[in-house]
Amino acid sequence: MGDRGLAHTMRLMTRVLSGIQPTGDLHLGNFVGAVRHWASDQHQHDSYYCIVDLHALTLEQDPAELRAKTLQVGALLLAAGLDPDVCTIFVQSHVPAHPQLSWLLECVASFGELRRMTQFKDKTAKGGEGAARAGLFTYPVLMAADILLYHADRVPVGDDQRQHLELARDIGERFNSRYGEIFTIPQAAIPKVGARVMDLQDPTIKMSKSRSSPQGKVSLLDPPEVITRKIKRAVTDVDSEVRYDPKAKPGVSNLLELLAVATDSTPKELAAKYDQYGPLKNDAAAAVVEFLRPLQTAYADIIADPAGVTKVLAAGADKAESVANPTLAAAALAMGLLPRS
Ligand code: TRP
Repeated sequence: MGDRGLAHTMRLMTRVLSGIQPTGDLHLGNFVGAVRHWASDQHQHDSYYCIVDLHALTLEQDPAELRAKTLQVGALLLAAGLDPDVCTIFVQSHVPAHPQLSWLLECVASFGELRRMTQFKDKTAKGGEGAARAGLFTYPVLMAADILLYHADRVPVGDDQRQHLELARDIGERFNSRYGEIFTIPQAAIPKVGARVMDLQDPTIKMSKSRSSPQGKVSLLDPPEVITRKIKRAVTDVDSEVRYDPKAKPGVSNLLELLAVATDSTPKELAAKYDQYGPLKNDAAAAVVEFLRPLQTAYADIIADPAGVTKVLAAGADKAESVANPTLAAAALAMGLLPRS
């Protein structure tokens, strides 16, 4: 049995890995759709959560802000209940094996397959390809490295990342057949459309860090009065009937969804209790404020000690490296690079 086979057999738990960019502010949609599931997954799976700062560099960032946001996301993940004694939380750039493996995999991936990535096409649609950073083009390969370094079995991502995950699988399989079985081929774990939080100003699109206006999203650190104002000003539908019907009545359905998420109920049940938009908005706003309160309180405590957060992230990077470095070394050796010693 090869090293990888052995390591694989010895692993009793499924390994999960996901990544989050430290750009923009984390919002309610990120929390409901991803981060809170990470917190529950950590007890069932061997989980790795990576703050992907290198990915953020594919678009323009203010350096001081990127650094501050990276720490902030670390603190938010801790506030959301990720326990560094249970799972591994780390910053991508703290583990140089990521960009190192990415280079090796760039020599496995083809130009043509990267060209087919719809996210690259979308992100260059406005400014044109010519001015796009080369890193924006190779970004999916870095993401493949993030995943393959850890022998991740499951990768929970949103639907928008499905194509990148498929690419990671293709690159991993191609590598294994060309150079020997080094990588575990991951499965996508795209959550069944459970609660899906939509933009408050345009309820036909998902609440998004980059696409939503400030009024369209509830940031996890918005003060209660800001949350309340945004929800009260949410776009509703032309008639005044309260009914859960995301297609015909996206605005009201989103309010019902928010209230359901925050009170652990179902939007259909809740719809029966309202016959006007006003009270629904008031209740949804109050419920979301209460829903986020524990997270905000925990965050305030955690960020009051930035050095403590840095320390947790450094320990996470040590744990991550103990998995990533041997994988990188095995891949480099398989491709014919001469080991240093
Ligand atoms: N590309 C993902 C996003 O923009 C983030 C990401 C980077 C990621 N590396 C990853 C997600 C590895 C899952 C696994 O949302």
